[in-house]
Amino acid sequence: MFTQEEKDAVYKAIYTRRDVRSFLPDPIPETAVRSILDAAHHAPSVGFMQPWNFILVSSNEVKEKLSWAAEKERRALAIHYEGEKETKFLGLKVQGLKEAPLTICVTCDPTRGGSHVLGRNSIPETDVLSTACAIQNMWLAACAEGLALGWVSFYKKNDVRDILEIPPHIDPVALLSIGYTEHYPAKPILESADWEKRRVLDQLIFADKWGVKPEA
Ligand SMILES: Cc1cc2nc3c(=O)[nH]c(=O)nc-3n(C[C@H](O)[C@H](O)[C@H](O)COP(=O)(O)O)c2cc1C
Repeated sequence: MFTQEEKDAVYKAIYTRRDVRSFLPDPIPETAVRSILDAAHHAPSVGFMQPWNFILVSSNEVKEKLSWAAEKERRALAIHYEGEKETKFLGLKVQGLKEAPLTICVTCDPTRGGSHVLGRNSIPETDVLSTACAIQNMWLAACAEGLALGWVSFYKKNDVRDILEIPPHIDPVALLSIGYTEHYPAKPILESADWEKRRVLDQLIFADKWGVKPEA
């Protein structure tokens, strides 16, 4: 059983966690990094396959290369928008890879556990979903440690494989920038930038069948 205080702490992490893209150069204590990785390693995973690895990148040279890959992709993705939306998109900061003292590349090994991982035969992408659970644990743990974390997915996987020398069968699921920040956002950056807003929860809940609203 959780005490009320413990419950409050869990929800505090859930509600205050934010995606962050501006970082201070201050180093991160090794104990905090270890706690964040251990939180990841205690995430649920399909068939308990634990498909993750963590590449800790602190070299400025390697971070520059990752930042180049993300910037290239950002410019490529701008073609999806036109006019005002394009200007808005190009004005968004979508990564802080160069500034953050640490980047963690979280990978997924689909071959881990062999060809018959319990539960993965029906839904193969459950390996990546398990990796995402690990990332969410890292996000919450970082928040509790007073650290900011930004999930960067703007990149071509082969660019990241080349830069980090990741074998072709391994999936680089995420680049996570971690560091301290002076600007921990109170609400999602995309909400403040008027790009998207949180949907109304009640409109997303159905009863028994798709589209059927629960009785009030
Ligand atoms: C799978 C995934 C990929 C994301 N990729 C990026 C990214 O490449 N760049 C970025 O700025 N934010 C990225 N984000 C962060 C989202 O924009 C952010 O979570 C969302 O706007 C809600 O804000 P919040 O995390 O502060 O609640 C990503 C988030 C997820 C879950």
